[in-house]
Amino acid sequence: MKGIILAGGKGTRLYPNTIAVSKQLLPIYDKPLIYYPLSVLLLAGIKDVLLISTPHDIDNYKELLGDGSRIGINIEYKIQTEPRGLADAFILGEEFIGKDSVCLVLGDNVFYGNRFSDTLKSAIQSTEKYGANIFGIMVKDPRAFGVVEFDKNGKVISIEEKPQKPKSDYAVPGLYFYDNDVIEIAKNVKPSERGEIEITAVNNAYLEKGRLHVTLMGRGMAWLDTGSPKGMHKAAGFVKTVQEMQGFYISCIEEIAWRKGFIDDDKLRKLGDELSMTDYGQYILSLLEE
Ligand code: DAU
Repeated sequence: MKGIILAGGKGTRLYPNTIAVSKQLLPIYDKPLIYYPLSVLLLAGIKDVLLISTPHDIDNYKELLGDGSRIGINIEYKIQTEPRGLADAFILGEEFIGKDSVCLVLGDNVFYGNRFSDTLKSAIQSTEKYGANIFGIMVKDPRAFGVVEFDKNGKVISIEEKPQKPKSDYAVPGLYFYDNDVIEIAKNVKPSERGEIEITAVNNAYLEKGRLHVTLMGRGMAWLDTGSPKGMHKAAGFVKTVQEMQGFYISCIEEIAWRKGFIDDDKLRKLGDELSMTDYGQYILSLLEE
């Protein structure tokens, strides 16, 4: 399975923070926002990643992440000239995806929770079985998201994008698994009223064919909002608190790559040494004393 991170967009809700700097490069406490969705792909065992961003920002991502070999993976890059919508990822990514299945994660989505790796593993299995797997997670106000509608037996009957009157409290987070058909489906999506080719239209196309599986994330799962300065501040506080309380870091890409066996002890030591002036680097080095 291939992985795509969509890290473009204008980030206007965060202006002036994001006038000169891409939103997904801003820090969430001690690491750039992009490390969090990248960690999700690593946890899913995905080693081939395409990062999509704007003409203005793409070089900054290349500087930060390079070709991925530092953490034992392969990262390629693609420019999106205009924010045409989330489903554009599969059109831009057609060649990269090839004949594979694909996981899309939005560059501004942060996940953290119990048994998340197992959740990802079963999402991959559901994708093989059904064709697509997305998630539903309960939120207080789902109006800003894709929202899942269920019938009285709990069967999914529709996904609505940013409904004024949501039919449930289950939002669809920015993490999607699809088989190879997603490329053709995305190509046939008509732009919505806001002029975007919506991921929700892709999900509904799978649903209509009876090929969409929705996995509900329980309350042990944190999905953090980074859409506003307040959301980013809260997310940073969450990361700081958990890291200090537990001693485990959230979304340390070097740690995940090492635990997954993508890099060995020597490589991890080298990465830790390079950052040894920070707590982040010291944490990496401390892993080798386990
Ligand atoms: O976060 C989950 C939500 O993401 C879903 O519940 C919605 O169904 C989905 O449409 C999306 O809604 P948003 O309004 O939050 O999407 P936004 O336009 O903010 O874009 C999400 C990320 O993708 C953000 O990091 C910018 C990037 N992006 C967005 C578009 C439209 C791109 O890189 N290119 C694009 O064309």
